[in-house]
Amino acid sequence: MKICTTVKEMHAAAHAARREGKRIGFVPTMGALHEGHLSLVRAAKAQSDTVVVSIFVNPVQFGPNEDLNRYPRPFERDRQLLENEGVDFLFAPSAEEMYPAGAITYVTVEGLSEKLCGKSRPRHFRGVTTVVAKLFHIIEPDLACFGQKDAAQAAIIRRMVRDLHLPVEIVVCPIVREPDGLAMSSRNAYLDPQQRRSALVLSRSLGRVVEVFGKGERNSDRLIEVGKQVFEDEPSVRLDYFEIVDPETLEPVVTVRGAALVAVAAFAGTTRLIDNTVLQP
Ligand code: PAJ
Repeated sequence: MKICTTVKEMHAAAHAARREGKRIGFVPTMGALHEGHLSLVRAAKAQSDTVVVSIFVNPVQFGPNEDLNRYPRPFERDRQLLENEGVDFLFAPSAEEMYPAGAITYVTVEGLSEKLCGKSRPRHFRGVTTVVAKLFHIIEPDLACFGQKDAAQAAIIRRMVRDLHLPVEIVVCPIVREPDGLAMSSRNAYLDPQQRRSALVLSRSLGRVVEVFGKGERNSDRLIEVGKQVFEDEPSVRLDYFEIVDPETLEPVVTVRGAALVAVAAFAGTTRLIDNTVLQP
């Protein structure tokens, strides 16, 4: 696996692979890799000839009081995991490399970026779309894999790709969970044993909504109420939002008639966790 740390080096390497006729699959990450990330790497590998993974803790998508400085960065472990998966290129640039001094250009998917996590993390999605657009330009992948874990992020990136006519196919892969149901996340490492147990309330609340939906309930307010009630048993976890929205527009759904995204975000201590499921009538 070749490690590239500069934009020039990565661009040249991807360009050379493409000139050899290789189909390039790309997986953007912030590192601290787990099975969720690796599932994307395997999906990319299955559908392309050359796999590029990026590890970049993107400062622009973190708010001023968020966890940018304490975000885990176990680089050597990540490198080994990617090596084991047979990844061809690891792109690991510095912040200075990705954001030249004085950079003031952003990509914003207006309207969608203020929904769900965008409400409590105002500039978060602008940071995500900006860095993903940059990465797409540097690597020019044929295909890029994202996780359904970050459902709003996936919807916003699909929209950016569509609106800007970017020649990349977006593949969204299912959420990978711990055996007890907790969605895997690099941030789970912050949880102490008590918080780790409490954090199960997210997946449990979604399970309860799916169950009631299965019995025929189609009214979003009532389904949301059912989900929120589950949080009442776990007062140590503070709910940020519990919403049922259209998976593409992220607009609230009143009655579930087509596919609907049930999305939840909550704090266990200072750790912000998210999870979701899709209802399919
Ligand atoms: P990060 O949180 O590292 O996630 C990288 C990719 O892994 C995202 O597409 C995310 O949805 C996916 N992922 C995370 N946990 C997953 C799980 N349990 N199951 C399946 N997929 C999972 O998302 C980001 O980084 C950043 O915002 C990024 C896109 C890299 C831009 O900076």
